[in-house]
Amino acid sequence: MACLPGVGFDLALHPPTSNRSLRAWDAADEYLLRHCIEDSLLSSGGPALVVNDEHGALALGLVRNGWAGSVTSWNDSWLAHQSLAANASRGGLDPTSIRALASTAAPASGPEHAGAHEAQASSTSWALVLIKVPKTLALLEDQLVRLRPHLSTSSTVVGAGMVKHVHRSTLGLFERCLGPTTTSLARKKARLIHPMLDIELEPMVDPPHPSDRIEENGVRLVEFAGIFAQGRLDVGTRFLLDHLPRPTGGADVVDLGCGNGILGITLARNALADGRPLGSVHFTDVSHHAVASARASWARNEGFGSEGTAVAGAVAFSVADGLVETASDSADLILNNPPFHEQQRLGDDTVWRMFTHAHRVLRTNGRLRVVANRHLGHHVKLRKIFGQCAVVASNNKFVVLEAVRSE
Ligand SMILES: C[S@@+](CC[C@H](N)C(=O)[O-])C[C@H]1O[C@@H](n2cnc3c(N)ncnc32)[C@H](O)[C@@H]1O
Repeated sequence: MACLPGVGFDLALHPPTSNRSLRAWDAADEYLLRHCIEDSLLSSGGPALVVNDEHGALALGLVRNGWAGSVTSWNDSWLAHQSLAANASRGGLDPTSIRALASTAAPASGPEHAGAHEAQASSTSWALVLIKVPKTLALLEDQLVRLRPHLSTSSTVVGAGMVKHVHRSTLGLFERCLGPTTTSLARKKARLIHPMLDIELEPMVDPPHPSDRIEENGVRLVEFAGIFAQGRLDVGTRFLLDHLPRPTGGADVVDLGCGNGILGITLARNALADGRPLGSVHFTDVSHHAVASARASWARNEGFGSEGTAVAGAVAFSVADGLVETASDSADLILNNPPFHEQQRLGDDTVWRMFTHAHRVLRTNGRLRVVANRHLGHHVKLRKIFGQCAVVASNNKFVVLEAVRSE
C-alpha cells in the first residue's frame, strides 16, 4: 500500500475490501494536499473544514502537516467518519481530535446546533475549506449554499475532483453560490477549483433542498440533497413496490438502505389499509441525508406522524453501515434495494455485508426481500448466506428475490 504524500502513513479503506487494487485516496486528494503545502496555506491556522473526505486523507493530511487549528470533517456518509476515525488511530492520532459533523448539521465552526439543517449565523468563519467534489450536483449545491454564511473574505476555499467529475456545471455552481471561480491545470487527471467569495452575491432565496413531492402511488416524499433517485421513482424500486409482501399484523420490518423511505412507508401504508398494522418499522441508511429524508417523509404522510401512528409499536431511524448496529433476531421482514453504482469500484462488498447482516438480524422464518438488476447475480450470494433463495418476480431487467432465515 502506498502512502499519500504529506500524510506519512498508510491510509486504509474502511471497512476493508477484498479488492487490493483500491486506495483510500485519489489523485485529487494528493493534488489538493500538495497545493496546501506548496502554497503555504497551512501556515495561517484557524478552524478548517473538509467536505466529502471519504477516508480521512484530507483531514489527516491537514493535521499531519501541522495545521494550527481545529479540523472538522463535514460528510453525508456515516462510513466516511468511521473511516476517518479508524485511519486517525492507525496513524497514532486521537480520533476525537477531528470533529465529525453530519451533513444534516449546519457547517458552523462553533458548537453544533442539534438538528440544524438550515444555515445558522456563526461568529467565526472558516479559515480554510477543502471540498472534494461530491457525486451529485444537488449535494454540491446544498453544501455550497449552506456553507456560504460561514465564510468571510479571509476564508480560503479550494475544491478538488477528478477531471471526469469536474464539469462546467460544477464550476457554474461554485460561481453562483460563492463567486468568481478559476480552475487549475489538470494533474494526474485531477483538477483544483479556486472560488473567490463575492460578498455582494445575492444569497439563494429559496434553496432547492429539501424538496417535497407526491410519488405516483400517493406517498408523500421529502428529499434532502444528493439522495438516491431524487425527484424520480427508480425502476428497480418500482418493481419491488409492485411485489411487496403482505406481512402478518404486528411484524417488525426494516427498510435497509432506505433512501427516501418509499419502500417502508408504502409497506406500512398497505398494512394499515389491510387492517394489519405493522409492529414496527426501522429505516436505516449510510447516508445522513437519506435517513433525514425517510424521517421527514414518514412524518409527511397522513396518519403517520413522528409518533409512528401507522404502526402498532415504534418507528425508528438510524444512520449506519448496513445493520451493523441492529440487534440480532429482531426483525420479521427486511426490504432492500441494494446500492449498485459503486459495483465497479467497490465490488460487491457492501451487498455482501447487507445480506450477511440481514441474516443475523432476521428471526427464524424471517424474510429478506431484495430487488436487483438480474445480471448482478445476487441470488448466488443469498443462497450462500441463507442456504436458499426464491425468485418472486422477474422481468427483462430486474429480479425480486426472497431468502428466508431457516434457523
Ligand atoms: C439503490 S438505493 C435504494 C434506496 C431506496 N430504498 C429506494 O429503493 O429508492 C441504495 C441505498 O443504499 C444506501 N447505502 C449504500 N451503502 C450503504 C451501506 N453501507 N449501509 C447502508 N446503506 C447503504 C444508499 O445510500 C442508498 O440510499
